[in-house]
Amino acid sequence: MKTRITELFGIQHPIIQGGMHFVGFAEMAAAVSNAGGLGIITGLTQRTPEDLAKEIARCKEMTDKPFGVNLTFLPSVNQPDYPGYVKAILDAGIKAVETAGNNPAKWLPPLQEAGVKVIHKCTSVRHSLKAEAIGCDAVSVDGFECGGHPGEDDVPNMILLPRAAEELKIPFVASGGMADARSLVAALAMGAEGMNMGTRFIATKEAPVHENVKLAIVAASELDTRLVMRPLRNTERVLTNAAVERLLQKEKELGPNIKFEDIFAEVAGVYPKIMIDGEMEAGAWSCGMVAGLIHDIPTCKELIDRIMSEAEQIIRGRLEGFLAA
Ligand SMILES: Cc1cc2nc3c(=O)[nH]c(=O)nc-3n(C[C@H](O)[C@H](O)[C@H](O)COP(=O)(O)O)c2cc1C
Repeated sequence: MKTRITELFGIQHPIIQGGMHFVGFAEMAAAVSNAGGLGIITGLTQRTPEDLAKEIARCKEMTDKPFGVNLTFLPSVNQPDYPGYVKAILDAGIKAVETAGNNPAKWLPPLQEAGVKVIHKCTSVRHSLKAEAIGCDAVSVDGFECGGHPGEDDVPNMILLPRAAEELKIPFVASGGMADARSLVAALAMGAEGMNMGTRFIATKEAPVHENVKLAIVAASELDTRLVMRPLRNTERVLTNAAVERLLQKEKELGPNIKFEDIFAEVAGVYPKIMIDGEMEAGAWSCGMVAGLIHDIPTCKELIDRIMSEAEQIIRGRLEGFLAA
């Protein structure tokens, strides 16, 4: 399949693996890229720019296909060493960067002058237009269904994607709730030129996370995610567990007076405990409603090949069939 997204990133299939904290290690990115998609290493999971450089080098040993790096711009007071991470990306000759969070304008000139294509993740049309105006090459439009941070507008992809198509000139991928060939064909129909998946890629053989995490996703239904930190305007969609229900209870009791310190136990330092140690009750971790559509743990190649062949069947068989009738 050829779209502006496959052309932009030099990939075979219009499928991107979104940056994921403590999931987007070299093994994940290499497996997706080897399967013809665009794998992404999560920059901030690497504690220092030097560690990121090593992770990129490890990934290059596992694939000769293009892969990217996610840079998430946090609103925190203690800013990570972003100039150092950008330098590590440029020194390694990476050609694709997925940015997320705060406005990436400041980082576009050094990246783009070195030939890096930048795709910014946005949860609204307004932010997507801003990304286009500052010169991003593409947008990842992240609907309310998504795992992680869906923003505060709560617009699901059935509305958000066609709205993005009405407004944007640069290409965009659909993100949030994407799992299979049906997702891809629907996203293309609504104006996207590919899709970005997070949760679906965690339940794959190569995802370098504890088996418990994969089994939890397969066991979960579309009813099992919760929105936390809404009162802090930092909404995150997570898989429910005892810690998440405790957190929600605190939000209810403390109301608008809640502070980050009140929920520290449920959200701080959770990712390594979940993803590496498989302690599934350790706290809140991002997971999409799409868990309800995930029933197996294939390899990334099996997953992507299945998506592409079934997409063709849907387009040539089911959809064309309706016209013929
Ligand atoms: C466990 C997990 C961790 C994530 N961490 C990040 C992150 O560090 N930075 C980021 O930009 N997005 C992050 N995301 C969001 C994904 O890149 C992607 O946008 C999202 O998962 C898409 O929704 P889906 O899960 O329904 O496919 C994370 C998602 C998950 C599930």
